[in-house]
Amino acid sequence: MCGIIGYVGYQNTVPVLIKGLERLEYRGYDSAGIACVDQKKGGLCLIKEKGKLGVLKEKLGDFTIEAHIGIGHTRWATHGEPSRANAHPHVDATGKIALVHNGIIENYAAIKSALQKKKVRFLSQTDTEVGVNLIGSYYRKSHKLFDAVKRAVVELHGFFAFVLFSKDDPDTLIAYKRSNPLVIGLGRGENFVASDVTALLPYTRQVIYLEDEDLAVITAKEISIYSLKTRSWIKRQATTVHWDVAQAQKQGFPHFMLKEMYEQPEVLKSILSKRIQKNGEIFFDTLDRKFLKRLRKIKRVSMISCGTAYHAGLVGSIAVEQYPRLPCNTQVSSEFRYGNPILDSKDLVVLITQSGETADTLAALREAKAKGAATLAVVNVVGSTIAREADAVIYTYAGPEIGVASTKAYMAQLATLLLLAFYMARGRKTIQAVELRALLREFKKMPEHCAKVLKEIKRFERCAQKHYTRRNFLYLGRGCNYPTALEGALKLKEISYAHAHGYAAGEMKHGPIALIDHEQPVICIAPDSLTYDKMISNIQEIRARDGIVIAIGTEGRKDLEKMSDDFFAIPKVPEILSPLLTVIPLQFLAYKIAVLNGRDVDQPRNLAKSVTVE
Ligand code: F6R
Repeated sequence: MCGIIGYVGYQNTVPVLIKGLERLEYRGYDSAGIACVDQKKGGLCLIKEKGKLGVLKEKLGDFTIEAHIGIGHTRWATHGEPSRANAHPHVDATGKIALVHNGIIENYAAIKSALQKKKVRFLSQTDTEVGVNLIGSYYRKSHKLFDAVKRAVVELHGFFAFVLFSKDDPDTLIAYKRSNPLVIGLGRGENFVASDVTALLPYTRQVIYLEDEDLAVITAKEISIYSLKTRSWIKRQATTVHWDVAQAQKQGFPHFMLKEMYEQPEVLKSILSKRIQKNGEIFFDTLDRKFLKRLRKIKRVSMISCGTAYHAGLVGSIAVEQYPRLPCNTQVSSEFRYGNPILDSKDLVVLITQSGETADTLAALREAKAKGAATLAVVNVVGSTIAREADAVIYTYAGPEIGVASTKAYMAQLATLLLLAFYMARGRKTIQAVELRALLREFKKMPEHCAKVLKEIKRFERCAQKHYTRRNFLYLGRGCNYPTALEGALKLKEISYAHAHGYAAGEMKHGPIALIDHEQPVICIAPDSLTYDKMISNIQEIRARDGIVIAIGTEGRKDLEKMSDDFFAIPKVPEILSPLLTVIPLQFLAYKIAVLNGRDVDQPRNLAKSVTVE
């Protein structure tokens, strides 16, 4: 949450900051701002506006700035409403230090009142302004920004990242990371720092991921990193990022979400080609011998994640119980971490996360590690905090996902978790080689099936047109498509702002059926499965009460088609693989309904892509 960027080097900093913020805007869009040292005027130049980045860009049209150091910010509001005063960067009381911040300073109120007693005046309601003023109070004594930050951060509680500079030293940026992500981009005669690598892709592929308690001193020529953990200057390894710049652009699609939906067959294809070897064995390159040995001793599994990733975890959990026959608990991270979970060395805790930075999932990981469980991160963003902190990591290789509503990352999580379950089943000999081979043969056809569904998806547009003004939707599914119902409802809620609720179809009679009347659309996810007949009975019950049935079923199911007001057919696949297909029409339905309602699909209100606060 909140995107931050810093630049120091030979280029004019303003366009660099703006280009970076464009790529970070998915992290928050309540306000945006930049601070730099104008070469001509010599002073600190601070420009910030409420609203999306576009408003700031327009404002910048009024200025000609020549600067070679600067910081920028795009905000997801925590402390204080979205307003110009609360927008970052924030400047200390002397007007010398400018700072951008991502995260929360938990003890800001106490520090603020202590500073107020020393006559420091505050112009905003933010915790950030407290942080910059605490640094400023130490800076006034030593005139050394590095020392001032080092002293101040010890007093600040919470999880956050800072990037700052002082106009007294317009060649040096300081960056500090505690839990919230920061990555340094290495250039020639220039250096960058940002909340994530997508902002750096136009300029460099060489990056250094900062670790917790790292304090970096960044000039155009040099990077020095001091660890507050070890109290020493340290060297951090640079890594090369392989993401494609084009993947982080819309490429002619009206929205990132739509583009990312259409990338799903390719994502599946690349996962399968990486994970299934020529000899038919499943392979995870990042799991070393030591971890594999540990995996063999596991007696229980937990899938821990948030939002869409939680839904992927529910599917993964069904697969882990069904194939390796291990008991598997699925929980949202925020409940798990405070639930005093019962864990020991025989537990495997799988943390599923696209960003690898979600605060609750990170806290859950730390809790699981502290209790001695083996931890495995299933992560999209390479080098992210969760990927680095877990005992082992499996990357999902979805590429950069920019749309706030997750689509291709979900697809990648599903595919990876299913392969993991099959892999563990093979190790535990709970699946025959021949059965696994047959299953993987079917799996390899999934990119093609996925492409077919996308090719035919436009037929579903009529359904969106019929119902887009409705405010309440129900989603029903059973077995491994109950999570699909939850995911379909979440997609619709988050981008169209209509109320949607996912239920296990068997639960209908225990309450929700009271909602059914002639105005209630019910999206029924009913591909061929063990419980197909039960789903049909549930659908009959909805029809008997005049409900509107929108069904997703297997092609050729005329019975289902006849009893539905709208029907979308998916190819026939084994039940456990069906969530990879059934979710696509639901993503499309949510997308179309949102567009027809004039919603901002890629940047829905109140949301941010990476939730780095609890
Ligand atoms: C919904 C969505 C969110 C995320 C959730 C977890 O479309 O994207 O629900 O799935 O915030 O984020 P990650 O996977 O980054 O931990």
